[in-house]
Amino acid sequence: MTKQPWWQTTVIYQIYPRSFQDSTGNGVGDLPGITSRLDYLADTLGVGAVWISPFYPSPMADFGYDVADYTDIHPMFGTIADFDELLEEAHRLGLKLIIDWVPNHSSDEHPWFVESRSSRDNPKRDWYVWRDARPDGSLPNNWLSNFGGPAWEYDEKTDQYYLHSFLAKQPDLNWRNPEVQEAMFDGIRFWLDRGVDGFRIDVAHVMMKDPEMRDNPPIPDDWQRQFKEHGEYDKFLHIHDKGHPDVHQVFRDFRALLDSYQPERYSVGEIHIADWDEWATYYGEDLDELHMPYNFSLIHAPWDAAEIATRVNEMEAVLPEGAWPNNVLGNHDEKRLISRYGPDAARVAAMMLLTLRGTPTIYYGDELGITETYIPPELQQDPWGRNLPGAGRDGCRTPMQWDKSPHAGFSPPVAATTWLPLTEDWQSQNVEVQLNESGSLLSLYRALLEYRAGSAQLTVGDYRQLDSPSGVYMYERSHSGSRVVVALNFTGEPKSFAMPADGRIRLSTTGARAGEALSGSVVLGPNEGVIVEIV
Ligand code: GLC
Repeated sequence: MTKQPWWQTTVIYQIYPRSFQDSTGNGVGDLPGITSRLDYLADTLGVGAVWISPFYPSPMADFGYDVADYTDIHPMFGTIADFDELLEEAHRLGLKLIIDWVPNHSSDEHPWFVESRSSRDNPKRDWYVWRDARPDGSLPNNWLSNFGGPAWEYDEKTDQYYLHSFLAKQPDLNWRNPEVQEAMFDGIRFWLDRGVDGFRIDVAHVMMKDPEMRDNPPIPDDWQRQFKEHGEYDKFLHIHDKGHPDVHQVFRDFRALLDSYQPERYSVGEIHIADWDEWATYYGEDLDELHMPYNFSLIHAPWDAAEIATRVNEMEAVLPEGAWPNNVLGNHDEKRLISRYGPDAARVAAMMLLTLRGTPTIYYGDELGITETYIPPELQQDPWGRNLPGAGRDGCRTPMQWDKSPHAGFSPPVAATTWLPLTEDWQSQNVEVQLNESGSLLSLYRALLEYRAGSAQLTVGDYRQLDSPSGVYMYERSHSGSRVVVALNFTGEPKSFAMPADGRIRLSTTGARAGEALSGSVVLGPNEGVIVEIV
């Protein structure tokens, strides 16, 4: 197979560390827990890289996305020694380890902010974004927090406001101050020196704002939502409070730092930008910024063959020369995949995710079909859900389901409870049960991952959409003259289509047709996807 960078041929698996494996019995997952489950990822499932959401010291106002120390581990998750052990074990098993980096904001309990807010002339005052009220006494501008309410919090002691694009407990760092960049990059060096393979960069497009801090204009009449509902926040066009082009210099510097390390390190940015051309700028003009901006277009797409195909083709069309695509269908901020599409379509979605061109990211538990879980108000944890009813993200963060033992094997039996409840069907939807069922979703993921790993067409090959009947998305992946056709029926009706050439089914989402020879007109069952090798 052609030698391509590891981050192009790998499959990433996202772990929400509170929810993967609890080794202590306190009901919350931790790093030793993850270490104890790495063989599941490397051998049973067969992914190549793991991204772990934040595990830093934090008051947990936003469950770790409020960092109080960028170079340590929250005691609840373990110690630096536990981290080193996790990294060593991951590498021993051939897994790459990607960690979350949260540069836009720290916790208000980070010593930098404690200093910054202590007085107007503190040397770290300018490490955060402080402004006076307007002359009429109103807030510095009309910017709103993503999590509800104004983006400005008044500090009585120094009689100024500080900016927080998320919670008031998450003050925005001032990336226009070179000292901030230097201190934050020191944190990156700390992890690179330990051997970390890459970073997922939290809200990477939010770090730089309009230097004049102008008001955001209201939305025009024809405005259409691209991402999920944000309440009051949706009434403005967010052209000044994020996405300022000065962020590109930060990422060029960041990339130069990563590139000064061997073996090759990797970065993927959380970029919620609907405009494709702007999205693509995050690769850098000379591919010298992020290795990838996350492509969220499919997560937000309705389950419709034509719509999904359009989005894939749009993304392919804007990629700069040599840029590598990626696809993702779930994460810790979005409703669970199977609950968006339904159980039959979830199988087709798995095949699509693992056969489109580009690096896929699987969200933990999606391989089992863990559903979005209803969390009653008194058990809700997510601050966003408490601010904006309905926006809570707890439902996609419930504990991993390993087996039929108490707490589904997530917490040891002694644990009183788990931090979020398990899904109602955990007794049947868990790793142990699904490993023994050839028709389970987990078995399908394993088969897809195994097939993908051995297929140059799927990992590095070209992509071309093929003509297909409505409701079917069909594409070819080709490499060195050999071709694989993927045909996905997005509907609950059988569909027939014409094979572009004779072939043989290698994998079907319904499991039954492997080995079947295909030529001429072919029928796909309802919600069936097939991978066909052209002979
Ligand atoms: C990102 C994270 C999300 C977090 C937010 C603020 O969107 O994915 O979980 O709440 O940033 O850090």
